[in-house]
Amino acid sequence: MDAERFLTDGVVRLRRFRADDPAIDFAVLWYQDREVLDGAGGLDEKPFDRTRIERMYRYLDTHAELYIIEVRDRAQWLPIGDVALAPHTTPIVIGHPGWRSRGIGTRVLALIIGRARELGYPAVWAKEIWAHNVRSQRLFERMGFRRVEEGVDDQGRSWYRYRLDL
Ligand SMILES: CC(C)(COP(=O)(O)OP(=O)(O)OC[C@H]1O[C@@H](n2cnc3c(N)ncnc32)[C@H](O)[C@@H]1OP(=O)(O)O)[C@@H](O)C(=O)NCCC(=O)NCCS
Repeated sequence: MDAERFLTDGVVRLRRFRADDPAIDFAVLWYQDREVLDGAGGLDEKPFDRTRIERMYRYLDTHAELYIIEVRDRAQWLPIGDVALAPHTTPIVIGHPGWRSRGIGTRVLALIIGRARELGYPAVWAKEIWAHNVRSQRLFERMGFRRVEEGVDDQGRSWYRYRLDL
C-alpha cells in the first residue's frame, strides 16, 4: 500500500502512520488521558511515555495497518487518535477528549471495515474490549459486530471479543 494513502469520508481522514510521525507529539497527550488508559489499557494503567508509545506504534505498524485519525479543523487536518487494522484485532483510540461521542469512532470503523473488505478479510475483530468499556461495546455493536467470546485476564478483569463477518 502507498505509504501516503488516505482513507477518508471527507469528515474523518485515516492517514497511514510513518516513521517519526509528527502525530507522536499529540499521542503523548492522548496516552495520559484517563479514559484512553482505562479503555485501551486497563483501570490501573499508568500514563504512557514517548518511548512506550513509539514502541507500541512500531509494533502496530509492523503487525497491522496503523493509521492516525485526523479531522478537518479549519483549513488543516488535526490528529486526534489512532486505529489499526490486523486480521484479529482493531484497536481504536479517540485520544482527544473533545472529539469523543461525536460520531468519529463510528466513521473510523466504517472506513476500517471498507479497508478490510478491500483486503479480502473474512472478518474484522475487536480482540478484547473490557467489560467496563460500554461506549466501545456500543460502538462495535452499532457497526454490526457480534460478541463471540468472553474471558477474564490474569488480573481478574473481564473482557469481550467481537467479530463482524464480511
Ligand atoms: C470508544 C471510542 C473509540 C468510541 O469512539 P467515539 O468517537 O467516542 O464514538 P462515537 O461518537 O462514534 O459513538 C459514541 C456515541 O456518540 C453518539 N454519536 C454517534 N454519531 C454522532 C454524531 N454525529 N454526533 C454526536 N453524537 C454521535 C453515538 O450514538 C454514541 O452514543 P452511545 O455511546 O450513547 O451509543 C472512544 O470513545 C475512545 O477512544 N475511548 C477511549 C479509548 C477506548 O476505550 N478505546 C477502545 C478500546 S476497545
